[in-house]
Amino acid sequence: MSDTLVLGIETSCDETSAAVLRGEHDLLGHVIFTQDIHQLYGGVVPELASRAHLRTVDDVVDGALREAGVTLDDVDLVAVTAGPGLIGALLVGLAWGKAAAWAAGKPVVGVHHMEGHLFATSLEHPGAEPPFVALLVSGGHTMLLWVPAWGEYHLLGATRDDAAGEAFDKAAKILGLGYPGGPSIQRAAAEGDPKRHPLPRPLFNRGQKPGEADFYEMSFSGLKNALRLLVRRLESEGTLADEVPHVAASFQAAVVDVLTEKTMRAVRETGCRRVVLGGGVANSRALRESLRRRLGRDGELYAPSPRLSTDNAAMIARAGLFRWRRGEAGGLDLNARADLPFPGLTREPPALARG
Ligand code: KG4
Ligand code: ZN
Repeated sequence: MSDTLVLGIETSCDETSAAVLRGEHDLLGHVIFTQDIHQLYGGVVPELASRAHLRTVDDVVDGALREAGVTLDDVDLVAVTAGPGLIGALLVGLAWGKAAAWAAGKPVVGVHHMEGHLFATSLEHPGAEPPFVALLVSGGHTMLLWVPAWGEYHLLGATRDDAAGEAFDKAAKILGLGYPGGPSIQRAAAEGDPKRHPLPRPLFNRGQKPGEADFYEMSFSGLKNALRLLVRRLESEGTLADEVPHVAASFQAAVVDVLTEKTMRAVRETGCRRVVLGGGVANSRALRESLRRRLGRDGELYAPSPRLSTDNAAMIARAGLFRWRRGEAGGLDLNARADLPFPGLTREPPALARG
């Protein structure tokens, strides 16, 4: 069972990716094609994404199979992202996965993209296994989860508006920095003073208590507006160009402070000092450093390498393997959904055995 060979396919947004995974950790082949066309527009253009997936999916899957030294006939299972994401983009991967599974007589399983991000870190870090507190921070999602076991996900908090990555992308646009925003803000912030232009920390109030609506919830849209006002003021004063590094550092610090505080609340309340990061924003050096500092020596922080933190098919193969082992392989009626519900996700407060 442990040498099950899974072909994973991911096309939910602007990465076309395929992976061949043997068992839980052995990544034999992995190709990620990032569509750079979107840089021209400062964000992902859905129609262009679908077309680019169509053009590249054949070569990307062939590349992963070749790298692994296997053919479709050797594969035991096809795992493909079924949602959430851009519907046109999702359909390209899903149709390809179903056709390949049908042609080769293999089972196909639909994977929830965010469950993929949750599994990504465990591909490289054997310690990133439940129970843990998870912070999933990508361009489309911001979720704080308590994960007592794989498949059992307690949603503690989420963003009320913009996702953390989206906030970085929009902030970069306002500051005239490149897309994707997280890395370009990180670069600009390296020479900036985060205290020079203090920005608000939304829904972050030290007096909040467990059980209160805002205890774990996050919001980044007001912060973006505060940034816009600050940039406008600096522009009218003619000092913006010199201040960009400081403003970028302030913005990054505000987002990181909120994410860190909310995560540490979950650590305190669950009594679990193991934290797993997932999603593109997990690449943030500032976020990792801040969490590491707050977790201290007896805490464990697991973050994926850059390649596994952004969208990739290895994580889809791993999550697909988990679902398949639970007997959840679908048929050819498997469909893509832009708003696919997260399997196993509950808003029920967890029953905690503290300690
Ligand atoms: O997970 P991902 O590749 O795509 C989605 O599923 O959305 O995440 C992409 C997001 C982008 O918003 C990007 O700005 C952000 O991850 N990101 C970062 C960093 N690297 C990527 N955000 C903050 N700091 C970074 N170093
Ligand atoms: Zn993602």
